[in-house]
Amino acid sequence: TVITAPSMQRKAPIIIAHRGASFYAPENTMAAFDQAIKMKADMLEMDIQVTKDGKLVILHDFTVDRTTNGSGNIYELTFKEIKNLDAGSWFHPDFKSEPIPTLEETLDLYYNKAKFLIDVKHTSYPGIVHKCSSLLKKKIAQGMEPSTFVIQSFDSSFLKKLKKQLPVVETGLLIPSHSMNSYQWIKKNIPYVNYINPPVTVINQEIIDQFQRHSLKTFPWGINDPITLRHVFGYTIDGIVVNDPLLIQKTVEHK
Ligand code: G3P
Repeated sequence: TVITAPSMQRKAPIIIAHRGASFYAPENTMAAFDQAIKMKADMLEMDIQVTKDGKLVILHDFTVDRTTNGSGNIYELTFKEIKNLDAGSWFHPDFKSEPIPTLEETLDLYYNKAKFLIDVKHTSYPGIVHKCSSLLKKKIAQGMEPSTFVIQSFDSSFLKKLKKQLPVVETGLLIPSHSMNSYQWIKKNIPYVNYINPPVTVINQEIIDQFQRHSLKTFPWGINDPITLRHVFGYTIDGIVVNDPLLIQKTVEHK
């Protein structure tokens, strides 16, 4: 069944490819980002980790075990040690030898093709605030628009520190699956976040109205089936985070 997109009064939510088009290609690799671009995603979501020698790389887990042919904690491996790992075969043999990308090469490659939702998953790496802010400052100095990036994290103190170092870039607070005390989140975080990004399971229009009354935007996540998509598409949200960028076209008719 195809339902109709919300009327012209408001913009349809943007499509954000979760770890790239991770339904079709190995998450957080250029193969997944390429697919997302082909499928006309507006924004690429990606997770950041730091290698032993301080390089920002794109990987969801703290270890390379699940998504590569290597093993170990990323902070105990140098970039040289991880750069030839195969981050594709676990997903499908067609993606053999797909490498773990660096954040910088990914920004350079996809700038002007999509925006970036950068999820700083683990914030315990020494100097992580400085590493993120200095890379983005460098990219902005090279001509990238600050509005191309949103940095999100479950760690509000990380976002607070980042916002101080990099006020021109928008930040988003991720909300864990189990809790949604919207008033508490809004009150505590409003000075330094621009988005509140909860899983779709814990939101409703009333909560989104509260965000919007405080000029907070929202990118709900965890939308991977047509039923959930239809449900969330009726809300006044700014974007939807999906593993399959085509799910929206399959489910919703854009006017
Ligand atoms: O954008 C939301 C998303 O990153 C939430 O976290 O761990 O499911 O990728 P995760």
